[in-house]
Amino acid sequence: MRVLRNSFLYSVLLAATLFAAARDFTVQHESSFVPVGDGDSNDLVSGMQSSESGRYAIPALSKGESLHLNDISLTNNFVTLSNPRFPNHSVRIKKTDFCDHTVNAYTGYLDVDAGAKHMFFYFFESRRNPDEDDVMMWINGGPGCSSAMGLLMELGPCSIDMENQSPNGTIYNPYSWNEVANIFFLDQPVGVGFSYADFGETVETTEEAAKNVHAFISIFFETFKQFKGRPLHLSGESYGGRYLPVFASEIHDQNTIAVKEGRPTINLQTVIIGNGITDISTLYAGRFEIECGVSALDTPFQSINACVRMKMALPRCQQMMQANCIDSFDSIDCRASINFCDNELSTNMWASRRNVYDISKPCVGDLCYLENTAIMDYMNLNSTRKLLGAEAPGEFSSCSSAVSAGFAAHMDKWHSPTQVYVAQLLERGVRILIYAGTYDWQCNWVANKLWLEKLDWSGKDDYNLAQFSDWTVDGNKAGEVPHDKPKEALVMLERWLANQPL
Ligand SMILES: *[C@@H]1O[C@H](CO)[C@@H](O)[C@H](O)[C@H]1NC(C)=O
Ligand SMILES: *[C@@H]1O[C@H](CO)[C@@H](O)[C@H](O)[C@H]1NC(C)=O
Ligand SMILES: *[C@@H]1O[C@H](CO)[C@@H](O)[C@H](O)[C@H]1NC(C)=O
Repeated sequence: MRVLRNSFLYSVLLAATLFAAARDFTVQHESSFVPVGDGDSNDLVSGMQSSESGRYAIPALSKGESLHLNDISLTNNFVTLSNPRFPNHSVRIKKTDFCDHTVNAYTGYLDVDAGAKHMFFYFFESRRNPDEDDVMMWINGGPGCSSAMGLLMELGPCSIDMENQSPNGTIYNPYSWNEVANIFFLDQPVGVGFSYADFGETVETTEEAAKNVHAFISIFFETFKQFKGRPLHLSGESYGGRYLPVFASEIHDQNTIAVKEGRPTINLQTVIIGNGITDISTLYAGRFEIECGVSALDTPFQSINACVRMKMALPRCQQMMQANCIDSFDSIDCRASINFCDNELSTNMWASRRNVYDISKPCVGDLCYLENTAIMDYMNLNSTRKLLGAEAPGEFSSCSSAVSAGFAAHMDKWHSPTQVYVAQLLERGVRILIYAGTYDWQCNWVANKLWLEKLDWSGKDDYNLAQFSDWTVDGNKAGEVPHDKPKEALVMLERWLANQPL
């Protein structure tokens, strides 16, 4: 059980961990592996998929044959791989000169669900020791936002060039998380970034998305045998707070089935969530503190008048959400409750024109960051698409409004108690790191602190008894992560992966 917080800067870093050793799944070879990520009963066009899957047919790897990523040397064309264990899935992968010349980098598609859904990924070997280091997945939130945002703005091997200094559009990032781990960035669900579907299939709930992500990860480890059995960490931010506990739970549950049936398992070790939305019940209370309290800034930035109004609306918002979204979910009443909460509690924030992810700054640019426009322009260059092998029919956008609308239509954010997934993972020995920057309003640190304090799990009392302690990097108190504090974010990750005190 660890709780860390930088009390001086009011940044928070909360780590809820259970020290029981994570379950050690036995990895078995040569047993028949039935894919789990397909069989999507909502698929409207399943009858059309099998013909399409022929498009990528190539000689299958013989059973048990191992493929090393180093065997892939093509930089212009995809190598297509299929595996008898996954008759409905294939992997297209190529080596790429994108982003990081110091390691082997690959991009590609995992074609899931009979080849109709194509999930794009970037993979970078660890700069430290690719043969030994753990494997990480990074996803962005939204729902609908591309992992290219995290890659090019936060923690990837290169950053988007904002000053026109680089001949190739990107700048080397010495604080990339691939300093200490093999990392893949996944665009999910289909419709996000360069991921796409052939026949207009969509994924509109997290629970549904989890199946494709599980298929992706299974096939990744099954295909690239050098990583087989390697510890896996799922990381992401924002809506990742909803995605990742569900994805991790899907992996865990499928592992349990796989163990029973003598099939290979995925060595899921930890989940890492930055500025996440997980338990909806504390969101608005946290936002009030960020705007009208001193949890982020020394002086509240909203007017007293606005704060009084918000304070008066808060109990009603909480009661309505509790009754209509949490105690029992009713989509019409829950939506009405959220509308009330947003009208009364979010309007002033949007009117302030501050950056909702960093209230210390003005909101400038697409989604409050100029980098987003630059990323979009760069990703849409024909030269970049070629470098990546991107085959999505449409233009790249940082965040897909269609995907986000689909999730909103299902009220995905509100309809399931995601924190229960977290508690269940903790009880099963999956370590979970929750970190949040000081100045975020959207999925703020206060809301995260509040839900962690009331999370029902066997470590609850110990967690709440533990004292906050300063989090230091190089002897200095650390601040926000990871967009503005890349070095601190990397140190955090390194200590977390090594299971050291943060
Ligand atoms: C593969 O996909 C087809 C078409 O969607 C489906 O009928 C079949 O059951 C799938 N096979 C497996 C092994 O899941
Ligand atoms: C891009 O250019 C920068 C600046 O010259 C260089 O440091 C970096 O290695 C290049 N990256 C790639 C992937 O070509
Ligand atoms: C980019 O590629 C598309 C498709 O091949 C082509 O139509 C378009 O003209 C290209 N754009 C530029 C600026 O070369």
